[in-house]
Amino acid sequence: MCGVTGNAQDGNYKVNDLQLKDNKRAQFVKESLKNLILSNEQIEKVGEAFKQEMSSALDEKTSSLQMENTYIPELPNGSEEGTYLALDLGGTNFRIILLELANGEFLKEDFKFYHISDEARLGCGIELFNYLAECVKDFMTLKNMPFDMKIPMGFTFSFPMKQHSLHSAELVTWTKSFNCPSVVGCDVVQLLQTSLRKHGMRNIEVLCILNDTTGTLVEGARLDAKTRIGMILGTGSNAAFLERADRVHHWEGERHGEKNVIIDIEWGAFGDKGTIDFIRTEHDKEVDNGSLLKRSFTFEKYISGKYLGEVVRVVLKSLCDKNLLFTKASKDLFPAPWKFGTDNVSHIEEDALNGCSNTSTVKVLDKFNYRFNIDYDEDDIKVIQYTTALVSYRAALLVSICTSVLLNRMTETDITVAVDGSVYKHHPRLKKWMVQLIKELSPEKNFHLMLAEDGSGKGAGLVSAIAQRINTRNVCITNGNHNNGHAMNGHGKEMNGLGKHMNGHHNGVVNGSNGIHNGH
Ligand code: GLC
Repeated sequence: MCGVTGNAQDGNYKVNDLQLKDNKRAQFVKESLKNLILSNEQIEKVGEAFKQEMSSALDEKTSSLQMENTYIPELPNGSEEGTYLALDLGGTNFRIILLELANGEFLKEDFKFYHISDEARLGCGIELFNYLAECVKDFMTLKNMPFDMKIPMGFTFSFPMKQHSLHSAELVTWTKSFNCPSVVGCDVVQLLQTSLRKHGMRNIEVLCILNDTTGTLVEGARLDAKTRIGMILGTGSNAAFLERADRVHHWEGERHGEKNVIIDIEWGAFGDKGTIDFIRTEHDKEVDNGSLLKRSFTFEKYISGKYLGEVVRVVLKSLCDKNLLFTKASKDLFPAPWKFGTDNVSHIEEDALNGCSNTSTVKVLDKFNYRFNIDYDEDDIKVIQYTTALVSYRAALLVSICTSVLLNRMTETDITVAVDGSVYKHHPRLKKWMVQLIKELSPEKNFHLMLAEDGSGKGAGLVSAIAQRINTRNVCITNGNHNNGHAMNGHGKEMNGLGKHMNGHHNGVVNGSNGIHNGH
């Protein structure tokens, strides 16, 4: 069903068959790359493994998946309001955001990016958190906000965590390009809160910690109430979804009759226990060996932006070594490990959309100083395009398999999947492939893939508002007052007051910057 090669009538749905002037060479290339093509049996086995690992993790048995309880039992309901600070840490840039919400809508989103140096990303964790606090101070100065200002904060921390509550989580392991070993096992909310206090910001209260996929789900639900899954296909990859609370066994603290709860899957680690080793090629092993975190985040290495370019590079290198590519070019031109970014993959794929043109591929090769007709010819271009398409299609297929398992797990038939991330946004065929593949894998579901930009930032504001709603409600329940409506309204007013305070004192700040962030 989800077979890989097709022809032009498929409307770019599949990967075009490789046809070269030299037919023998085409056969050799295809033979060398055949392991990148998943058989129907393998597709089924990947889905089965994902399903089983999800259940095992929820039952607190051994699994490569975290299936982390986020303690967020509900999605936005349109009553969210107030002014919040948000920290968004997950990539090489870190963002501080000032958000203003009223009636579940964003009135303002004002932000600043801060660069995180290699020393901070790979050094002592305390320095990293001190740096985050210094950035908050800088941001508050810039926005004329007094350091002792009382303001709630949401912390988007896009790494695997062991959560103890909405506002307490230990880092399980760093991923992507971070590695500050001393932070592993520490409560990152406490680290942040301590650094903020130390830097004079005593009244900022970190209300919640969340992952970017959770933020994307929540922002997605604000945009479309049918959203049940949030997904990131960017530098890293992961998904979160709304699970039935009775299926979730790990629950620290009291339950309050929650029907659902958001689960952060951490699917990047899928396969770390070897369950999908049957799809692992020599190329994947090579990428893993050269990666910062070896034998970890197996699935992510097949699908995410940090790795796709490197997978393509490694495969192309193996073809060079077999004399099936760049037979005339100097070896020095070939990009060094990790120097062939995933943006090149997207560019090369653009040619598949333009009636199999060569323009974008040639531009990519130009960047590496290759000269057409001297270092390479038409057949080399076709081999590069074929390789790039196979690696991309495999990524789309693997993500689709897991998405379809999630959809099939839900009772709803109409489900929106909120997605964000550079690979999803910039890869020209990925979305199309995913739509087709998920349709084939979940024929009885009516799903919709929706771009939910900046869920990692906006989600922090929304989850902070939800956290306040829940806290107020739980206090009321504990005090024997079950009048949720009043509790929420009362709280809303209080937050509104804060919003007014912000506007009253710092009008120029908030109003002066209407930049709604569009990138991820
Ligand atoms: C990595 C992180 C995960 C995050 C994803 C997308 O996989 O471990 O927490 O959601 O990247 O940023």
